[in-house]
Amino acid sequence: MLVSAQEMLQKAKAGHYAVGQFNINNLEWTKAALSAAEELRSPIILGVSEGAGKYMTGYKTVAAMVKAMIGELNITVPVALHLDHGSYEGCKKCIEAGFSSIMFDGSHLPIEENVEKTTELVAICREKGMSLEAEVGSIGGEEDGVVGMGECADPQECKRIADLGVSMLAAGIGNIHGVYPENWPGLRFDVLADIQKLTGELPLVLHGGTGIPDDMIKQAISLGVSKINVNTECQIVFAQATREYIEAGKDQQGKGFDPRKLLLPGTEAIKEKVKEKMEIFGSVGKA
Ligand code: 13P
Repeated sequence: MLVSAQEMLQKAKAGHYAVGQFNINNLEWTKAALSAAEELRSPIILGVSEGAGKYMTGYKTVAAMVKAMIGELNITVPVALHLDHGSYEGCKKCIEAGFSSIMFDGSHLPIEENVEKTTELVAICREKGMSLEAEVGSIGGEEDGVVGMGECADPQECKRIADLGVSMLAAGIGNIHGVYPENWPGLRFDVLADIQKLTGELPLVLHGGTGIPDDMIKQAISLGVSKINVNTECQIVFAQATREYIEAGKDQQGKGFDPRKLLLPGTEAIKEKVKEKMEIFGSVGKA
């Protein structure tokens, strides 16, 4: 079922576990993530970045593929189709394309503008029964070889955005996208605790799930995180499994070059990774 992420995240917050957002890039990714969720009876959020949306030829294609696949694979667990780090224009396009959830990333905007645009999108999402994620304090990451350490959100600004009626809030707490550098100082649990105190029952979102040690994930969940985003880790295992297949010369044996064979080890590796994360996040059996 394609649903908004609101109810699954409220349940996760109340039940002290987190639902994973797994970013998708193509049909194989989607199939792997949905089958993992169904097998483990876990709710799931499929994340689509603006770049991935463009790669998959547009949000309408993505929405049509996901909806059809839920039917064809008989997926019965709750699935949210969510725009990841959306611009204002991207949000509007996904609302029109039939996504069930969007993230408006206004973290780089002056807070007044973030508040204004988030307010407008909250009203639209409410009318359409969609969930909306907002962001305060930008999440760092590697861009052109420069690694940003990740900002920390101002808890008062988090409260301001939370009070607008968003469904979930991403707040920077020293987390970054991609692989963490050796000298990463870890998550700022003091900041997370302050945000949680001011935002109460609102589900909090942890971006940059790749490479965060399990004990930090568990502590973050205990401090109110109910959605955790994972992208890079699935890309890494997909590439690794595909490389092993080719390096073993399997593409040159029989019809090993058939894409249905060539992409299979990578697809299975994603499925295993998604399942592993669902176990750690505690969402298994919660559908
Ligand atoms: P990673 O690529 O670090 O797992 O981050 C994913 C993410 O936060 C997507 O918004």
